Amino acid sequence: MHPSLNTKNSGLPAPSAEAAAHSARLTARLVELIAASPHGAIAFVDFMRAVLYEPGLGYYAAGSAKFGEAGDFVTAPELSPLFGRTLARAFSSLGSNKVLELGAGSGALAESFLQQRPDARYQILEVSADLRERQQARLAGKTVNWLDALPERIEGLVLLNEVLDAIPCELIRYANGRYQRAWVRWLEGSFSIDWVGLPKGPLYSVAATRIPQIEGYVTEFNPEAEALVATLSQRLDPVGGGALCMVDYGFARREYYMPTRSTGTLACHYRHRVHFDPLAFIGLQDVTAHIDFTAMAEAAVDNGASVGCFTTQANFLLRTGLLNSLEVAEFSSDKERIIATSAVQKLVSPAEMGELFKVLVVTKGQAADQLAAFAEFDESYRL
Ligand SMILES: C[S@@+](CC[C@H](N)C(=O)[O-])C[C@H]1O[C@@H](n2cnc3c(N)ncnc32)[C@H](O)[C@@H]1O
Repeated sequence: MHPSLNTKNSGLPAPSAEAAAHSARLTARLVELIAASPHGAIAFVDFMRAVLYEPGLGYYAAGSAKFGEAGDFVTAPELSPLFGRTLARAFSSLGSNKVLELGAGSGALAESFLQQRPDARYQILEVSADLRERQQARLAGKTVNWLDALPERIEGLVLLNEVLDAIPCELIRYANGRYQRAWVRWLEGSFSIDWVGLPKGPLYSVAATRIPQIEGYVTEFNPEAEALVATLSQRLDPVGGGALCMVDYGFARREYYMPTRSTGTLACHYRHRVHFDPLAFIGLQDVTAHIDFTAMAEAAVDNGASVGCFTTQANFLLRTGLLNSLEVAEFSSDKERIIATSAVQKLVSPAEMGELFKVLVVTKGQAADQLAAFAEFDESYRL
């Protein structure tokens, strides 16, 4: 067994023989990528891209369960259809019934959104071929279209639930008086991180403006997620109007780069356990970092959108009718009702998803007026 799969002393469950063989194939591919690099190493951001998205091999690109009880983590739409139904109601005042969901996972959010808004013209853009197939099976018979690329003009609502956190990020350290970027090497049969001084340039400028100069401080930032939000915002239709709704775990910048958050937010999810070694369980675990929502809001505003609302998931869902969605939901048994109530509790409890998860809505054109009610609970002064 490869050392990175040795779970003996970690308390983590060992992968099956099949999973271990799969991991070995992706490891071999990574070793090839590293060998082909003129630096003898690949930047951490490229390592993260390969472990998550390498075609046919990466965590999101291959066929493991991922979502729900049998997988590695549970997301809000997986927890309860009331999440998607509440979002559908929250955005029903938009003038357009078009919805574009990015990174639809198992298709749970699309399914529940369409229960509430069967008239929605729903489109999905999914980078993982495997997940796209699973979404198509789950949503068969529903009026959903799958896109291969972002449309040039986007009207209506764009939804991203836990997508930005799954976009490969830069891993940066401040040490010995300079910013350093993480690179991944293959040394004596295992992966290791090498910290290399960050030369002056765009990445350095971002690091220098955001990251505190505290010896040993490790953190992340995510230029690719910012670029995606910039493109989406730029393409929102200025005439018909559009809104971009991002739900994810994260903080406003001030809180993200607090001096005490000195080991960053990078985390790995493996069979409902969280640990902090991205070099382990290659291709078998989710690798993710929290979102700097100030960066996302800046990317949107720089591209002509306005912030409509930034708040916690609990506040957003409660103010847009989650409890009413629970009240009007039909259950076939008391057990079902109790399960739904407990899911609602997880969505809003400060100890679960309620506070750590945030909702950022940016708008363009008429959407700003159509969603003006969000201003009542907007806390974008925190950004
Ligand atoms: C953590 S999962 C969340 C899935 C789903 N939204 C949910 O909440 O259950 C991340 C999803 O985003 C997809 N993804 C990552 N980057 C993407 C991108 N640039 N465009 C579209 N989908 C993307 C992944 O393939 C995966 O489906």
